[in-house]
Amino acid sequence: TPFDPFQRDVPILPVATPGSATKQLEQYVITMKPGTADILPGLHTPVLGYNGLYPGPTIKATRGREVQIRQINQSGRDLNVHLHGGVTEPQFDGHPHDFIPTGTERLYKYPNIARSATLWYHDHAHGETHLTLFAGLAGFYLLDDPNDKQFDLPQGEYDVPLMIQDRSFNADGSFRYRFDLDRGFRGDTILVNGAVAPRMKVERRIYRLRFLNASNARPYKLELGNGRKMIQIASDGGMLPGKPVARTSIPLEPAERVDVLVDFRDFGVGSKVILHNTVGEASTSAVMRFDVVKGGAEEARIPKQLAEDEELPEVNMERSWPLTFEGLAGGSSVWHIAGGGFSEERIDAKPRQGTTEQWTWVNQSDRTHPMHLHGYHFRVVSVDGQPPSPGDRGWKDTVAVYPRSTVVIRPYFDYFSGRYVFHCHAAEHGDMSMMGQMEVQA
Ligand code: C2O
Ligand code: CU
Repeated sequence: TPFDPFQRDVPILPVATPGSATKQLEQYVITMKPGTADILPGLHTPVLGYNGLYPGPTIKATRGREVQIRQINQSGRDLNVHLHGGVTEPQFDGHPHDFIPTGTERLYKYPNIARSATLWYHDHAHGETHLTLFAGLAGFYLLDDPNDKQFDLPQGEYDVPLMIQDRSFNADGSFRYRFDLDRGFRGDTILVNGAVAPRMKVERRIYRLRFLNASNARPYKLELGNGRKMIQIASDGGMLPGKPVARTSIPLEPAERVDVLVDFRDFGVGSKVILHNTVGEASTSAVMRFDVVKGGAEEARIPKQLAEDEELPEVNMERSWPLTFEGLAGGSSVWHIAGGGFSEERIDAKPRQGTTEQWTWVNQSDRTHPMHLHGYHFRVVSVDGQPPSPGDRGWKDTVAVYPRSTVVIRPYFDYFSGRYVFHCHAAEHGDMSMMGQMEVQA
């Protein structure tokens, strides 16, 4: 049974405090462990969380200042941590086979050298991510750049990360999981920051909303109830090039992020503006509601111009990746990239560091695959031969490849060399076993 929307205020996610901080380095300690979350009235939901919290604490990082996180695994199972969208050396990337055995710990180093962006971190234990992400192991990692001050964007309480997930519940309040290899998990209830379709009290001023789809496999299409536009300023990899993009409808596949500005000065005090999801079952159509409760003195503005457009190097190599659903002898099935599944031994590509390649995802299946690369960002060149939608013209780390469609991207193998994975971010697909490896050559 789904639950009534708009009963609770949207949780403001806790921000982690560094144990020590200098100009060059901030150090955190996080413990992955069981906890409980209060999601349904009168019931406690067991979760697995960073510091036992669901969702996990938000890490606020600054470009040019390293972050180190000591992750202590007290979960009772072997885990690891992946900074999704982060640029890190391979040993800190959370490769799916690189486990932190339960009872041990690992120090992750994040140099924060790439563009400012809305990142997130989650478990990436191979074959298990569909369960550990579902159990609650996900948090925001907001990478800011002091140079972004020039844009006069909303700050502080007017800059709000919103994690969207779907869940189902058992009668005792625990999460109910049902495995579905074909579509991936689909829950009947939408949670934002861990609350069932909450309401958010807003002032009449501009807000920056950072939407993350941290669902296992559910796609969303976000629309404000009265058809008002949201002004998109950033996608997965950071600020959009050129002008902000006004959109009435924003598709968001698993792992994608979209940062928008919404100007609540367009609404009177007392208005209630619903954010709808216009794809999927009726019980998942209410995402949250914005209640305009009072006036506000505006300090932010909608920037006219965002990031500079960057030139990519010439394409050095072209590769094509068919995406298929394969029946196996014995009746089971698996998801494949280029005719194979994931194995430690299989290296699918050896790009040269410093180069750009052209990759073509050819979806030969009837499901959407949000294809994600670790360690590097890419530009979307075309979708079925057409230019990508304006909101997808910036740097991305995850791109929707819709059923039977073809998407061309250009990853830029800058920064580090070494072994990283790329995979479908529908968690059930990635785990079984829609994942490849690249070894970027120095
Ligand atoms: Cu969020 Cu390998 O990914
Ligand atoms: Cu997939």
